[in-house]
Amino acid sequence: MPGLTAPATYSDEPPRHPALKVNSKAYKWSIKCCIIGIPLAMNWILNSEEPFNAEPHRSALVLSYITPVDFFYKRNHGPIPIVDDLSRYSVSITGLVEKNIQLSMADIRSLPKYDVTATLQCAGNRRTAMSKVRKVRGVGWDISALGNATWGGAKLSDVLKLVGIPKLSSVTSLGGKHVEFVSVDKCKEENGGPYKASISVRQATDPDADVLLAYEMNGETLNRDHGYPLRVVVPGVIGARSVKWLDSINIIEEECQGFFVQKDYKMFPPSVDWDNINWSTRRPQMDFPVQSAICTLEDVDVIKEGKARIAGYAVSGGGRGIERVDISVDGGKTWVEAHRYQKKNVPYISDGPQSDKWAWVLFEATLDIPANAEIVAKAVDSAANVQPEKVEDVWNLRGILNTSWHRIKIQNSSCVGRSKM
Ligand code: MTE
Repeated sequence: MPGLTAPATYSDEPPRHPALKVNSKAYKWSIKCCIIGIPLAMNWILNSEEPFNAEPHRSALVLSYITPVDFFYKRNHGPIPIVDDLSRYSVSITGLVEKNIQLSMADIRSLPKYDVTATLQCAGNRRTAMSKVRKVRGVGWDISALGNATWGGAKLSDVLKLVGIPKLSSVTSLGGKHVEFVSVDKCKEENGGPYKASISVRQATDPDADVLLAYEMNGETLNRDHGYPLRVVVPGVIGARSVKWLDSINIIEEECQGFFVQKDYKMFPPSVDWDNINWSTRRPQMDFPVQSAICTLEDVDVIKEGKARIAGYAVSGGGRGIERVDISVDGGKTWVEAHRYQKKNVPYISDGPQSDKWAWVLFEATLDIPANAEIVAKAVDSAANVQPEKVEDVWNLRGILNTSWHRIKIQNSSCVGRSKM
């Protein structure tokens, strides 16, 4: 690809937030101040150094509705590509279309620009908790493998119109049913080949699906970690389909045959393990299910009996809003509804026109916490889908989509001298 290089080693990784000082492999780390409940100096949990996979400390997530780029989780499968000459960079559109074209950054920027606020969530979010039930394969993540950003760029539906595919098409005149995005990064799972994924032509050509070729994140030029110069953002769908460092778009008949579509990011039932897996029996995961988690507390925090603020995020895929977040302080026997919010002075209504339908809501409730409480959060989306109660019921060998009730065990403060509130 002209203008964009994919290194084979990790010697040219971009600078990251200065808090990322730890550099041992697969090192799990967090420093927290148990008196005030937020990290003192460093806000990151480094999940693995090569490829670089990191998430912020959970308490950082609820500090703002829009997640700052520095504190947005980073999920990679190879070394980060480098743009050596932006003027030579272009994206090719080929395959089952009437004409093949190359689009420069100037061509893409000349299309109408849209700003879409959407939560990107890795399918492996909360995998560490799932692995405690039974071993799973994959990078361990706490509850912060997601973030909410305003992505700026051209709509894919406008881009595809340039090659003669009308809006709201399900199939192109030459029989194309899927839109494949191909990157340049060298991934070991692809035997050194690039990361790739696909979505349906139907989703790609629907202007209301808001699929973007994004060049901005939170009003700034996309940075290298997040896909500079151009990435796909597929709102409401697991992060794996939002391909970074885009090189080409292919219109194809069948869905992408790449590793990350066919042999990864599929949800199997708890009865399937590595000795009886048949990848072709399951469809690639697309929309993510309803999810929520508490960010202001963690196991096993010590808090004074009395009132405590419980806050976190809730999000659902497919453009479904969050209808309700229920909080329990007695392990799920009784519940109270939390207050939900997105932007200041704009009431949040789960399917209201003023609410960001692809974005998370933050929630909070200030409740009396009994001794040795088990605090639980569960969300309900606008289609009345509810998070499953037990992680055992959704256990799967790849450890994806742990959307079970989020539980925090609190220790009785009367036996301890320090308290959090
Ligand atoms: N695109 C490329 N080219 N390479 C990757 O490794 N990882 C995917 C997706 N796009 C990936 C990619 C996965 S699994 C996720 S969850 C998101 O990017 C993470 O995006 P982020 O690092 O910007 O948060």
